[in-house]
Amino acid sequence: MYSEKVMDHFKNPRNMGEIEHPKGVGTVGNAKCGDIMRMYLDIDENGVIREAKFKTFGCGAAVATSSMATELVTGKTVQEALLVTNKAVMEALDGLPPVKVHCSLLAEEAIHAALWDYAQKQGIQVEGLKEPAADIHEIHKDE
Ligand code: FES
Repeated sequence: MYSEKVMDHFKNPRNMGEIEHPKGVGTVGNAKCGDIMRMYLDIDENGVIREAKFKTFGCGAAVATSSMATELVTGKTVQEALLVTNKAVMEALDGLPPVKVHCSLLAEEAIHAALWDYAQKQGIQVEGLKEPAADIHEIHKDE
């Protein structure tokens, strides 16, 4: 049911934890399953993500997608990180079962929320970056 990569990232999550003074932090959740994901980003003065860490209170697929998402965004510019979609995360994990696709959406949303926080703190606009839903409980309530 799960690929070896999903199992690997679930059992040995990369970059789990938090960054003390993150340049950007974003928390998202799925009201239906109740899972919550928080992403911390350290971004240097050139807009390159130096480090990404996560804390996820959720299912195994959410842990695996968070872990892979942190690996995918590290070393990327803010603009490049925006292209790390849930599809990209799933592909990097060799796929997820259909009922678990929403878990990967959390990863994409967490990246965007953290980037939004970074942009707000820096007072900059990032093309293509939209403001995340203010209340995490509003997310996915129609799913
Ligand atoms: Fe909700 Fe996986 S079941 S994030």
